[in-house]
Amino acid sequence: MTAPIHTDPTVVKVALDARSYDIVIGHGVLASLGARIAALRPGAKTFIVTDENVARHFLPGAAAALARAGLESSHIIVPPGEGSKSYRFFEQVCEAMIAARLERGDLAIALGGGVIGDLAGFVASVVRRGLDYVQVPTTLLAQVDSSVGGKTAIDSSHGKNLIGAFHQPILVLADTAVLDVLPKREFRAGYAEVAKYGLFGDAAFFSWLETNWREIFAGGNSSGSFAREHAIAVCCRAKAAIVARDERETGERALLNLGHTFGHALEAACGFSDRLLHGEAIAAGMALAFEFSARRQGLVPKAEAARVIRHLAEVGLPTGFKDIPGPLPSVDQLMQLIAQDKKVKRGMLTFILVRGIGAAFIEAGVDPREVRVFLSEKLAER
Ligand SMILES: NC(=O)c1ccc[n+]([C@@H]2O[C@H](COP(=O)([O-])OP(=O)(O)OC[C@H]3O[C@@H](n4cnc5c(N)ncnc54)[C@H](O)[C@@H]3O)[C@@H](O)[C@H]2O)c1
Ligand SMILES: [Zn+2]
Repeated sequence: MTAPIHTDPTVVKVALDARSYDIVIGHGVLASLGARIAALRPGAKTFIVTDENVARHFLPGAAAALARAGLESSHIIVPPGEGSKSYRFFEQVCEAMIAARLERGDLAIALGGGVIGDLAGFVASVVRRGLDYVQVPTTLLAQVDSSVGGKTAIDSSHGKNLIGAFHQPILVLADTAVLDVLPKREFRAGYAEVAKYGLFGDAAFFSWLETNWREIFAGGNSSGSFAREHAIAVCCRAKAAIVARDERETGERALLNLGHTFGHALEAACGFSDRLLHGEAIAAGMALAFEFSARRQGLVPKAEAARVIRHLAEVGLPTGFKDIPGPLPSVDQLMQLIAQDKKVKRGMLTFILVRGIGAAFIEAGVDPREVRVFLSEKLAER
């Protein structure tokens, strides 16, 4: 597997019949936002949803790109952070879009990370019974995961992402250069999702990551930006293929949740705070999923789990309870969080387990007692 050595962006197609769209990935592609939108929706009015951090860096450039293509734009800036995926900001953004006189045929633009993509996408799914929208993901997590596939949502007081819709964008524009100003910790957390693509379904990609991860982090104008572009394209291609086969997650799409059952429990245990970012929780969750597969089910050689842990740790990601600062919940509390996250069917839990690197599968018959014993052992090691 070699990284591209060209300067044209990489285009990945999401094949969903009439709702098909392109993911355009490349260094500096944000400058082509207007031209690409004008080609898809000539004369459309546009409305940008973004957050304060992203606006500071990229709103002027995005608005200028739209103006150069003769497109009118207005915007709303919400506070950064998960708190904006709320009823309050959902209402504000809906009202602002209507006040900006967006009609059917006009376009919303989500300029930001997964929070903005989920919020703006959900607003677009309901305003005037559905407006088209474009995703301009600005975090690594959003570029490889949340901007692709059409899942949109805000949070309920009962849990994250409980109010939402499937609403596919008409274009995803992933500029690899915007990641140069993303805080390192956010970049690293997003990298956990990149590694996930290798771990659940692409062993060759995982090997490539083991060799090339530093280049992906380096980015910039160096050869690193090609490694970064290549990695993002591999992830998007994998997600696009899965979404094309299973848009509404009735089966295979669940493989993208590798590490997420343990991960979500850890995230919830840390109160969805800065103590543990989503990607950090997923790194620990994937390490636990490999160890659980190795130790409780005997599915995967221990050396394979050790290899996963070695790579995640090398990058600086947490790989277990020992890497999570502060107090942790008891086994009972963890089991409760796991049961809340996952539907329990006939007393059994559904987990994404592995037979090896790149060989994940959906296992609907995991005995909660087995999980409890495993977690007790892991907590005792801390
Ligand atoms: N829809 C899906 O399929 C899906 C999948 C995974 C995650 N998600 C959702 O994504 C959200 C997390 O997304 P995220 O990790 O991108 O978080 P985020 O959107 O909160 O972004 C993280 C931080 O980085 C800042 N930021 C964004 N881009 C920047 C840039 N280029 N330079 C500097 N700062 C920048 C943001 O302001 C924020 O403070 C969660 O709400 C999660 O539920 C959705
Ligand atoms: Zn995730």
